[in-house]
Amino acid sequence: MNMIDSTAYKEEFTEHYEGSPVWEIGKPQAPFMEIADAVQGPILDVGCGTGSLALFFAEKGHAVTGIDIVDAAIERAREKAAGKKLDVTFLVKDVFTLIDSDWRFPSIIDCGLFHVFANDDLKWQRHYVKALEHVIEPNGTLYLMAAKDKPEGSAALSGYSLDALQNAFAEGWEFESIKEFVAEVRLNISPETAMRRAAPEWTTWFAVIKRKGLADGS
Ligand SMILES: C[S@@+](CC[C@H](N)C(=O)[O-])C[C@H]1O[C@@H](n2cnc3c(N)ncnc32)[C@H](O)[C@@H]1O
Repeated sequence: MNMIDSTAYKEEFTEHYEGSPVWEIGKPQAPFMEIADAVQGPILDVGCGTGSLALFFAEKGHAVTGIDIVDAAIERAREKAAGKKLDVTFLVKDVFTLIDSDWRFPSIIDCGLFHVFANDDLKWQRHYVKALEHVIEPNGTLYLMAAKDKPEGSAALSGYSLDALQNAFAEGWEFESIKEFVAEVRLNISPETAMRRAAPEWTTWFAVIKRKGLADGS
């Protein structure tokens, strides 16, 4: 059963979508495009935002479900899908509720959701990983982009050390690859997103993490 109350995150991100979030670059971050041909569908995009990444994979012919906690983000994602005449399932849904879901996916993509939970209270990371474990198929793959370390001078952004990232997926997962990547961000900095001035570069980890098979070897 979902034990997590994400109300504060929902409020925070709803405010972000009233403006132009810095992460909205209108296309997938490069590492996702580089590994695209290796990704097996159907695909679940957690924290899909306005859907650029989900739509990219849908254009490649995959069945894609995108979930996000913010209504406005999902509305925009649905509009974008309609504009492109693509059939993508976009739902307002909290990632932690996946623990109660009967969905199963061979591939999960996360561009910037897990790092939202990079704080000292490990409860958030643990519940996120448990939720994903519930819906990923045995031997399924998580493609994850998450901020690296805490950008110097930024009060608002956080991130993972290599150890912290590996520890979060230490049990029942295996890292197939992990690399650093400087993510693209929007450059039209507004007063509300002044934190970007202190952190113009968004250094991230891009990791391909395999869920191990079941105990019987399947
Ligand atoms: C940094 S943004 C990345 C958005 C999108 N993946 C992209 O690359 O443009 C993080 C996203 O996670 C969403 N989010 C935050 N908490 C969430 C939760 N508990 N469940 C689902 N989505 C959540 C936010 O609304 C936001 O869209």
